[in-house]
Amino acid sequence: MSIISDIRQSQQIDSISFRHILEAEDDELLAELRAAAQQVAIAEYGHEIYVRGLIEISNICKNNCYYCGIRRGNKNATRYRLSREQILDCCSMGHALGFRTFVLQGGEDAYYSDTVMCDIVSAIKAAHPDCAVTLSLGERSRASYAALREAGADRYLLRHETANAEHYAKLHPAEMNLANRKQCLFALRELGYQVGSGFMVGSPYQTVEHLYEDLLFLQQLQPAMIGIGPFLHHHDTPFANEADGSVERCLRMIAILRLLFPKALIPATTALGTAAARGRERGIQHGANVLMPNLSPVAVRRQYELYDNKICTGEEAAECRVCLARRIESIGYHIVVDRGDSKMVVYAQAT
Ligand code: 5AD
Ligand code: FES
Repeated sequence: MSIISDIRQSQQIDSISFRHILEAEDDELLAELRAAAQQVAIAEYGHEIYVRGLIEISNICKNNCYYCGIRRGNKNATRYRLSREQILDCCSMGHALGFRTFVLQGGEDAYYSDTVMCDIVSAIKAAHPDCAVTLSLGERSRASYAALREAGADRYLLRHETANAEHYAKLHPAEMNLANRKQCLFALRELGYQVGSGFMVGSPYQTVEHLYEDLLFLQQLQPAMIGIGPFLHHHDTPFANEADGSVERCLRMIAILRLLFPKALIPATTALGTAAARGRERGIQHGANVLMPNLSPVAVRRQYELYDNKICTGEEAAECRVCLARRIESIGYHIVVDRGDSKMVVYAQAT
């Protein structure tokens, strides 16, 4: 049996095969990897691509991650936050465009207290009972996650960024740590959220061993969604002069993830689309099945700049919706109007 069909069948990969695949220059092996991953995705999800409307609610952040353009230390960033009404307007527009999931993402901005955030979440759920609400607001207390869940939030995205503590410490200042990150993820899972995690491919100091540890951590967490994208430098961060992550390596990682997690939701991310002209399409051809177009008001889009040259910062949501539909159809897929819930067994609440 080939190494690819072995991984596919066992849904396991050992560290030697993993390194072999990441470093291979063997076109035949890579073609087999890609085809297998795409087949697995099609077997689970057909040619349907789920979409989530991403609303970037604030670029104000108390954290200072070395890679991120909206870190608090970036004095050149123009800061903004969206009001409850602006967020609700984005959702209404998104609903009309066929979105049935809204992702509210922002920096760790204290303005969005539990009271403020619970009110926004319940207002969205009241206005759009057919929609799922996903939050991506960073690390909060377990009590906060519980309150937001109670208010109607269905899902939470929090990338672990790297599962290796020493590597984590090279990407973040000492005030942040991996143990806390993991604790947040397990708390979210226990509270009944569909959890999304993930990491950047090619972040500074990342090794093949680190990526393997990321896989092992994901196998332990069993998230509903796994989001990865290449690291892309931002000119006003400590990593301004670091090399961008490799698109090829990111695509290989997507394919491996698909073989290990056949039912997972795997987005073809904006970072992937930024790093290569048809990056998102290629992501889908490597087993991704989700797209997260931007629904934020065009006036603030340029300000949510995690990395340089981010795509879709000038287009209206409706324009991106049409553009994406066309791109996806060009590779034989189509976008569905659906909440796009995970097919994974959601971790049963202990209590
Ligand atoms: N390049 C690529 N991805 C980035 N993110 C943050 N900064 C960058 C960057 N410079 C990713 C992180 C974060 C997500 C919202 O965006 O993984 O979790
Ligand atoms: Fe935004 Fe193509 S997806 S312009």
